[in-house]
Amino acid sequence: MHLVCPRCRKKHKPKKGKYLCDCGSALLVEYKKLKWKPDGKGVWRYQSCLPHKGRHYSLEEGGTPLVKGLDRKAYYKLEGDNPTGSFKDRGTSVVVSRAVAEGFKVVSTASTGNMGASVAAYAAYANIKSRVFVPTDTPTNKLSQIIAYDAELVRVRGSYHDAVERLWNDIVRGSYLAMTGLNPYYIEGEKTIGYELYEDMGAPDKIIVPMGTGGLITAIHKAFVELKQMKKVRKLPEMIGVQPKNCAPIAAAWKEGLDRAERMTKCSTIASAIMVKTPFNDLTALNAMRESKGEAVTVSEAAIKKAVRGLGKEGIFAEPAAATTLAGYEKIDKKKSDKIALIISGSGLKDPSAAL
Ligand SMILES: Cc1ncc(COP(=O)(O)O)c(C=O)c1O
Ligand SMILES: [Zn+2]
Repeated sequence: MHLVCPRCRKKHKPKKGKYLCDCGSALLVEYKKLKWKPDGKGVWRYQSCLPHKGRHYSLEEGGTPLVKGLDRKAYYKLEGDNPTGSFKDRGTSVVVSRAVAEGFKVVSTASTGNMGASVAAYAAYANIKSRVFVPTDTPTNKLSQIIAYDAELVRVRGSYHDAVERLWNDIVRGSYLAMTGLNPYYIEGEKTIGYELYEDMGAPDKIIVPMGTGGLITAIHKAFVELKQMKKVRKLPEMIGVQPKNCAPIAAAWKEGLDRAERMTKCSTIASAIMVKTPFNDLTALNAMRESKGEAVTVSEAAIKKAVRGLGKEGIFAEPAAATTLAGYEKIDKKKSDKIALIISGSGLKDPSAAL
């Protein structure tokens, strides 16, 4: 196993405290040869395809339900059923296990709320400290969660981008960088969503994913690329990435045919979990959509609110960021025969204001 840079293709040996390529890009894990040997349950069922082999810290993440919609011909992957209520737990279990193995006593993250709650919970379980930098406007429920899990909560006045800048200073002082987009082991844990979809429904024709930094769509696409390498699937599901119209740097780059997203100066959306002006995984997210013949779509604030209600009518309570997938579903061209999976990435209880 080694790390590879998706931008300059340079290969790296994993090294303590080194997270990015010399060119500044986030890295991905690459395996010499993958073996498909699912065994057990949840994320660690796929240990043969994960980078961490030693002791792991698990709160029984993963193994989430796949529910067939009533009104629509869609399948909902309910990631809100993870221990802290979002898909982040899959990556955090791998990342915190790795941090402990590398001898770190503190893990730090910058977060729009969900990753902070997840990192705080897993650090508590592994008996190490956590520090969480959050921007202004982080929903109260997520702040309560972070505090309840005993993290040091640092409220940064400004955007997610400002919280990330504060985080970097903290990393330089020696804490472990527990953050999607920048730590390649996050993508590894999160990709198990793709493995579960494959086991539960075969390869979907399309997978609809909310995009913030672009890590989640990168991860699910990576799972199917690996399943193809292992000769489990013949074709890649079309990856459809969704962003709110009001905060859509990756979708804008897609529209322009660019490889990289440009930084947005202003963002404002009720889907606070994906309110990201500078997406770190833009290159790999754009590649996931291109390589799979998918697309990026944008959705209005009104459509997101409608989608929260629409999912509610089918018995599913999703936070606004997660409901963007339904808004995206309503917008895309599809065939009657298409098998479509929507990644309902976080629970509605985390940010209930949109339903009100
Ligand atoms: C509920 C929810 N959905 C989707 C995303 C998007 O994931 P990514 O930032 O990896 O693109 C996030 C990220 O925080 C999230 O919390
Ligand atoms: Zn590089």
